[in-house]
Amino acid sequence: MPSPISEQPAGPGQNQGHPTESWSSSLGFVLAAAGSAVGLGNLWGFAYRASQGGGLAFVVLYVAIVLLVCLPVLIAEMVLGRSTGHAPLLAPITAGGRRWAPLGWLFMAAAVGILSYYAVLMGWTGRTLLHALLVGLPADMEASKAFFASISSGGSALLGHVLSMALTGIVVAAGVRAGIERLSRWGIPLLFVLLLVLLIWAAGLPGAMEGYHTFLLKWDASKLHDATTIRNAFTQAFFSIGAGIGAILAYAAYLDRRSAIPTEAAAVVTMDTAVGLMAGCVTFPLVASFALGDVVSSSTVGTLFIALPTGMASLGGAGRVVAVAFFGLAYIAAITSSVSLLEVPVASLIDRLGWRRPRAVWLGVAVITVLGLPAALDTGVLERMDAVFGGVLLIVGGLLLALLLGWGSPGRLRQDLQASGTPPALVGSLLWLLRWVSPCAISIGLVISLVDLARSWAGG
Ligand code: PFF
Repeated sequence: MPSPISEQPAGPGQNQGHPTESWSSSLGFVLAAAGSAVGLGNLWGFAYRASQGGGLAFVVLYVAIVLLVCLPVLIAEMVLGRSTGHAPLLAPITAGGRRWAPLGWLFMAAAVGILSYYAVLMGWTGRTLLHALLVGLPADMEASKAFFASISSGGSALLGHVLSMALTGIVVAAGVRAGIERLSRWGIPLLFVLLLVLLIWAAGLPGAMEGYHTFLLKWDASKLHDATTIRNAFTQAFFSIGAGIGAILAYAAYLDRRSAIPTEAAAVVTMDTAVGLMAGCVTFPLVASFALGDVVSSSTVGTLFIALPTGMASLGGAGRVVAVAFFGLAYIAAITSSVSLLEVPVASLIDRLGWRRPRAVWLGVAVITVLGLPAALDTGVLERMDAVFGGVLLIVGGLLLALLLGWGSPGRLRQDLQASGTPPALVGSLLWLLRWVSPCAISIGLVISLVDLARSWAGG
């Protein structure tokens, strides 16, 4: 077998896989990792869930989960990738032995499962962008609903899904540096510039203050112990940062041994949260200015594809420019995320079977495109796939990562981080969080999430 792995080595470096590719610099890695984190989840999920979950109370819960749980897990995931040099399928075995093989398969299943419906959402985004650019915006709410129904079903949804998978494949096939890094190097700065311009523009809308109030400035403490809010905060945090699924692990395998992983992880998490807050400061003023609250509270997807185009249409020509900028930035955010999801099976096929990158890419694209067909044809299937793959599996992956690096192979984390200059006290705190706080908090969050999910499914 072309890629032999040794199990349970004494320390990092002794079992280094041999990825043939690498990032051009630490900044290249950070931008690619931020590209993976910043995606459609930030643009619609974060502010929507905050608005439904007590405003600032949700944000406080979210930030606590991010700092105490997701950040340590993200660091653990990066260390696992860099120290083994293996792709997500083999890295857990290399670090913890054969009994950790299921974690590698969980990474594969979660990444493939998420990408298969994420590409459908990308297709809707791309269609809305093209329509705003070439035709214009639907004139009113009824027209917006009809437009959304047309893009989210039948041939249009299928075509958007297939094209988005093809575009993702083209970037990943070009390689780590020439494809993924190059896309993120211009995509992420452009995304921030567009978002900043839109944020300044939205601040001048008549409903700006009311919009900020709906998603951010109100405080409903009762939501801090509400099961649905806790589930939403957990799933939003893991999904948005993209921790627990192997995507960052795959990227970290191409990372330089000297780069400071905790600093890089903190930069990614900060950018991700900033984009969520900034996007809310664009979307909610629009929603408040045109009294679109009812559409927003009925569904997350309704906000993005029905409420926003309706609000933008009310602004005439300027609204069309805003729509092109917003859906353009959404598409950039989405593709920098989808490439990281595709990299999980691609890197694993290269690592495990010794395949060449293009072969692994196009097989992955073909399989995932087919698996996404049910979601493309039925939004109910899409929502359920999101709940299972984007909700539960990601969190289970996070839990297992904390256990592997915290208990199964703690020497690996200590040696890797100290060798790259992380102060011992910080390494000690991280290990403590990974051993005690993350597993307990994730287990509680997981149980609450599963019970709440079962309840919401049973209630229809
Ligand atoms: N973080 C992305 C978003 O917020 O849209 C989605 C995502 C990307 C999830 C990569 C998981 C992942 F590994």
